[in-house]
Amino acid sequence: MSSITSLKGIILVADDDESVRAPLIEMLRLNCYRVIAVDNGEQAFKAACSQPVDLVLLDIMMPGPTGFSVCRAIKARPETRFVPVVLITGLASAEDRICGIEAGADDFLHKPVKKEELLARVRSLVRLKRYTDELENAETVLCTLARSIEAKDPYTEGHCDRLSRSTVSLAEKIGLSREDCNDLRRSGIVHDIGKVAVPEYVLLKPGPLDAAEREIMEQHTIVGERICAPLKSFRNVLPIIRWHHEKQDGSGYPDHLKGEEIPLTARILQTVDIYDSLTTDRPYRKALSQERALEIMWEETRRGWWDADLVSALEGLLAESPLALSVANV
Ligand SMILES: [Fe+2]
Repeated sequence: MSSITSLKGIILVADDDESVRAPLIEMLRLNCYRVIAVDNGEQAFKAACSQPVDLVLLDIMMPGPTGFSVCRAIKARPETRFVPVVLITGLASAEDRICGIEAGADDFLHKPVKKEELLARVRSLVRLKRYTDELENAETVLCTLARSIEAKDPYTEGHCDRLSRSTVSLAEKIGLSREDCNDLRRSGIVHDIGKVAVPEYVLLKPGPLDAAEREIMEQHTIVGERICAPLKSFRNVLPIIRWHHEKQDGSGYPDHLKGEEIPLTARILQTVDIYDSLTTDRPYRKALSQERALEIMWEETRRGWWDADLVSALEGLLAESPLALSVANV
């Protein structure tokens, strides 16, 4: 019996033929893989969608959808498209191979499956899955998108990177875990990524927004959450994206959360976000001084908008290191 620490990966085996399935399962289990076994196409697709599978071994001819269809369906879903799929076939015809490749299969095994060949393929594809899991973070892509949105507006240039650093400084000051700091670092970059859906006439409007424009703008929290939602590694970043415009008294958006209903990480990002926007130039006013920005934030805190403890922590951070959150620190 393998221990949990030596588990090498989770393999989904789908084959209706018990005489093929059973030895496959045994070989894999003996080599420290966890196996999920099913005997038809429908269950195979369900299992691939509902469990964190590292590799799928699919028979081609099965009851229900064929291995080709299941493979195609797995590859069509953003959440599972990077899961490697190996088609196991008794038919070594070139036509099947072409169909498999067209369906997005990553590799093929022929019956009877040889132990060494199976294990070599599984090992290399599970390793590949590990790499694509890393890529799946898609952090680079998302950050590039976020920065390209930021670049549309000359007044917010450098805001994301500055916010990313500053939120981590504030989070460290109040003793948040490394994981929380890491989530905040990423949310600093991507929190406004949903603005990709906001038309430029709204995004770049120099004056105040009217009610309809405000409604469009407020969607950026929901759209941003949706854009980042498929990324498992962004699980704890999503609440920050969605709720960074909520207010303590429930007058924020999009869900009118109140007080501690708003996650602490979202409140931290928002505190630094507000400070940053007050201390940088806007189309309708020049950048405010640190003192004036804090005055406004305290006024708004008394009005019931911001978290007083965090504004206080921010003030403390600025007193310790006046340039910690400044534009000069980009
Ligand atoms: Fe925002």
